[in-house]
Amino acid sequence: MDRRKVEEIFDKYAEEYSSGPFAPARYDTSRLAMSFADDITWHFMLKYLPKDRSVRILDAGGGDGYWAEKLITLGYHDIVLSDLSQGMLEQAKKRFAKVKGAHDIAFVKSDIADMKEFQSSLFDYVFSQYDAVSYCLDPLSAMKELARVAKPQSYVIVSLDTKFRRVPELIEAGLVDEAEKLLTTNISYDFDWPQYNLTWEELAGCFEAGGLDVIEAAGAPVFMHQVKAETLQKLEKDAGTRQRLLKMELDHCTNRSLVNFAGHLQMVGRKRKSK
Ligand SMILES: C[S@@+](CC[C@H](N)C(=O)[O-])C[C@H]1O[C@@H](n2cnc3c(N)ncnc32)[C@H](O)[C@@H]1O
Repeated sequence: MDRRKVEEIFDKYAEEYSSGPFAPARYDTSRLAMSFADDITWHFMLKYLPKDRSVRILDAGGGDGYWAEKLITLGYHDIVLSDLSQGMLEQAKKRFAKVKGAHDIAFVKSDIADMKEFQSSLFDYVFSQYDAVSYCLDPLSAMKELARVAKPQSYVIVSLDTKFRRVPELIEAGLVDEAEKLLTTNISYDFDWPQYNLTWEELAGCFEAGGLDVIEAAGAPVFMHQVKAETLQKLEKDAGTRQRLLKMELDHCTNRSLVNFAGHLQMVGRKRKSK
């Protein structure tokens, strides 16, 4: 499958994306504990976000602008949201038409593995949350591109689905052949298009090859996606318990023996100084 097909699929599902599930999943991925994944993701984004509100930010594979909106709410305004899918960019435009302070945001159709629209060392903060790096089927080129457009010493943050979490999901769905294939090829299909699922060591290799030092690797989440969805929903209703569960996650999510079994893999890198 080439990237044009992925583009067509996201164009097709763009309108349903934010109300989710945005495409029919082929097996049970309901144990994603997405609210915890989002909170952990945001924790790391805030930790490395430059304090200066005038910095230039790239949200690559930014979809309908969920993360960019959060940054605008904090007062950041020089944001470029890029995506392969024009449909997703149109959804983002609709979102930002209602957001105060969003008039400067730029929408650029661009393939994360070949961002020829952007010159090198342009952005002070670069991120790509939730899978564009894996959907492009060329994580190494994507990481090289994300690193290229970042300024030296700036942070680059990426997330994708972990490889080992997917293995039991596939086996539970009776897809033993696919589980075996994932372990040798790093490719799985949770929707009707392929994605790369990587260990933190494999993603770290792509970071290093792109000229990024790995600063942190975190699982998002490392425990909660293994709790039954109904149990978690009940527990989450109590704000105090929710807080305690999130603290457990944040205290342990960078434990490298847990990261490879997490729901998502969140990795933070810093571009090396130019020589
Ligand atoms: C799961 S969505 C995540 C969107 C957004 N980053 C978020 O966290 O809400 C994945 C996004 O990656 C985009 N995408 C897929 N392949 C891409 C590619 N090669 N280059 C850029 N974006 C791509 C899709 O169009 C989609 O908007």
